[in-house]
Amino acid sequence: MGGAATVQREVETVPVRERAGGSVQRRRVFSGIQPSGNFHIGNYLGAIRNWVAQQSASDNVFCIVDLHALSLPTTREGLRRNIQDLANVLLAAGLDPDQSIIFVQSDVPEHPELCWLLNSVTQFGELRRMTQFKDKSGGQDESVSAALFDYPVLQAADILLYDTELVPVGEDQKQHVELTRDIAARFNSRYGQTFVLPEADIKPDGARIMALDDPTKKMSKSAASPNNYIALTDDADTIRRKIRRAVTDSGSDVTSGRDKPALSNLLTIYGLFSGESVSTLEERYAGRGYGAFKGDLAEVVVDALAPIQRRLVELAADPDVARRVLAGGAERARERASAKMEIVRNRMGLGFGPP
Ligand code: AMP
Ligand code: TRP
Repeated sequence: MGGAATVQREVETVPVRERAGGSVQRRRVFSGIQPSGNFHIGNYLGAIRNWVAQQSASDNVFCIVDLHALSLPTTREGLRRNIQDLANVLLAAGLDPDQSIIFVQSDVPEHPELCWLLNSVTQFGELRRMTQFKDKSGGQDESVSAALFDYPVLQAADILLYDTELVPVGEDQKQHVELTRDIAARFNSRYGQTFVLPEADIKPDGARIMALDDPTKKMSKSAASPNNYIALTDDADTIRRKIRRAVTDSGSDVTSGRDKPALSNLLTIYGLFSGESVSTLEERYAGRGYGAFKGDLAEVVVDALAPIQRRLVELAADPDVARRVLAGGAERARERASAKMEIVRNRMGLGFGPP
């Protein structure tokens, strides 16, 4: 099995733009991920894998969004551990600090500062309509934190601070990127051209990996049961057991389709990890039933995660590697963010500076 390297070659890279003089300008990419534990193959296939595949063709900024994680209850020890673990996951999956700025959001205070300023051009009604807020508040909007409500504005600040053109994310973040465009456009029309309008970069495959125990819901870190997801750190036997127990559709054909949500999801996972098309897989497993298919799928996933897991073990033994990467990343991010914020404050007439 080819493992992670095969997977990365399968993802198309973002085109670079030609400038007038023939020189090439790399597209500016920004994405974020919450340090909230249980990083799963949905995060990997929907987001991280694409960040890695595109990084040599783009100017990248990747952020561990610890301030976003505060929108749900956290503890000091838990958050610290999750930040460290996520940094290791990003490095083990192939993010390269020589090609990408990798940093922790709270190390760059311009993020919450710009969030506050953008709050002034964001409508209450826009935030109330966000499906992620509706999902995460679960109808409890009297008691959830105000941070959960304001979450998309902090995300807009993340993106807009770096003049981002492309935001590689899973399908669930499309609405937040669209809101970011609306906020940027409103700011620009009120204060003059300041922000680049970003686009979501959502790949046709893998943008919405579904839960193994319920193929009508997306795979989620915060699921009640660990049978919902395959964590990047699950060992081989756990992966085999979870796939064996994964819900299937009625019938016994290994085929993809609207009436086959469970098999469609498993075939997508298989195809993305092995680099094969779903139709090739359907042919291979025709008439062979779910058992043979699931057995092979488990080995494909085990093999693809093995190199990442080996690297994770090394990184866990040497936390200074991640610490150095994040310190260097924060410094580079701060340089860009503080230059942008000076422009923004000035446009808005804040402070008591030069006329
Ligand atoms: P989060 O875990 O919410 O911080 O998400 C980090 C990234 O993973 C975002 O780009 C999400 O869109 C993506 N993501 C999360 N869950 C899934 C899923 N089930 N399938 C595909 N992408 C996902
Ligand atoms: N809200 C995103 C998620 O839950 C994480 C995130 C925060 C993000 N800031 C971002 C993603 C900026 C892309 C760009 O997945």
